[in-house]
Amino acid sequence: MLFPETISKKLGISYPVIQAPMFGVSTPEMVAASADAGCLGSLALGDLPAEQCISLIRKTRSLTGRLFAVNIFVHEIPEITAELREKYAKAKAYIEAFAEDNGLSVSLTALEDLTTNSYHEQIEAIIDEGCEILSFTFGIPDEKSIVRLKEKNVLLIGTCTSVTEAQMLEKAGIDLIVVQGIEAGGHRGTFATESLPQIGGMSLLPQIADHVDTALIYSGGIYNAQTMQAAKALGAEGFQLGSMLLASQESALQPFEKDRLKMVSENDIVLTRTFSGRYARGISNKYIRKLEGSGFILPYPYQNKLTGALRNAAKLRQDTDFVSIWLGQSIHDYSRQSVKDILGKLIDDYSRLP
Ligand SMILES: Cc1cc2nc3c(=O)[nH]c(=O)nc-3n(C[C@H](O)[C@H](O)[C@H](O)COP(=O)(O)O)c2cc1C
Repeated sequence: MLFPETISKKLGISYPVIQAPMFGVSTPEMVAASADAGCLGSLALGDLPAEQCISLIRKTRSLTGRLFAVNIFVHEIPEITAELREKYAKAKAYIEAFAEDNGLSVSLTALEDLTTNSYHEQIEAIIDEGCEILSFTFGIPDEKSIVRLKEKNVLLIGTCTSVTEAQMLEKAGIDLIVVQGIEAGGHRGTFATESLPQIGGMSLLPQIADHVDTALIYSGGIYNAQTMQAAKALGAEGFQLGSMLLASQESALQPFEKDRLKMVSENDIVLTRTFSGRYARGISNKYIRKLEGSGFILPYPYQNKLTGALRNAAKLRQDTDFVSIWLGQSIHDYSRQSVKDILGKLIDDYSRLP
């Protein structure tokens, strides 16, 4: 069978292809276009406050009557200590001075003015809104949350980057597992260890398939029918793709960022903690090169919050040297068509494979 059916049946879709949640890039329009292609759209809610989650869920519902997944960051927020306060103030001054030297005058948010949101409030909002599919990254919701979600029949999709994490997700009763190869664009979903498992999809996926019984969705580097076929051969029953949709009509990336994708070369794509405090894969730039090894990188979510105003200011002046453009390792032509057409072509090409 060309398309395995396990995941499609569970998710109520025609093809087991999932538009990756891409916080800051995917939009309600992208989710609806994915559903129109017979695939699963994912609404990225990141760490947004509950009210914003609700309004995005409602907006998406106004665009499509089909099922879609909502996606959240499940991350325990580190306590603010005296040490963190001191480090934060130093990092703030360092980054502001560096931006100033580059003609970008920006005042970054002070630690006292930051707001952080717990994923528990998001889960309550998701349950209240009657969402049926929840995917997550950066961790596993606590037991109480899982019980509550299961009582409400919410299907759970977790993300792993190692065999250990896949086993932890399975033990926690998660319904489907996204296996994220090191090729993937965006943040690493790593949660079991402080250090980063850097395992390529070709090694990771078959090992996980050997160790867990839960159906697997592969994510990382898929950019055409052949890469999707390879993932299937290694044990995937579903396919989640992000970078392929970055320049699409429904992407929130701005034209100057889409233009940058076209010029990307192999050595440009790096893993970095400099923007958010967690490792993410994207296009290297002046900011990343300066901050790497500077000692001014705070734990997530503090680095992420700290650099928010910098990224916004850089977007305004269309400056690729100070924005985070997350991107996976499979460089290709980054189609500007609608997501419906991009996914439609992928499925069509896949169906024609011998
Ligand atoms: C711009 C961008 C943002 C992302 N944001 C999220 C997110 O909010 N939640 C999540 O679970 N994964 C996120 N990811 C990771 C994707 O789910 C997926 O693992 C990755 O895109 C797959 O690799 P590919 O980009 O090579 O297709 C993001 C990826 C990108 C490129």
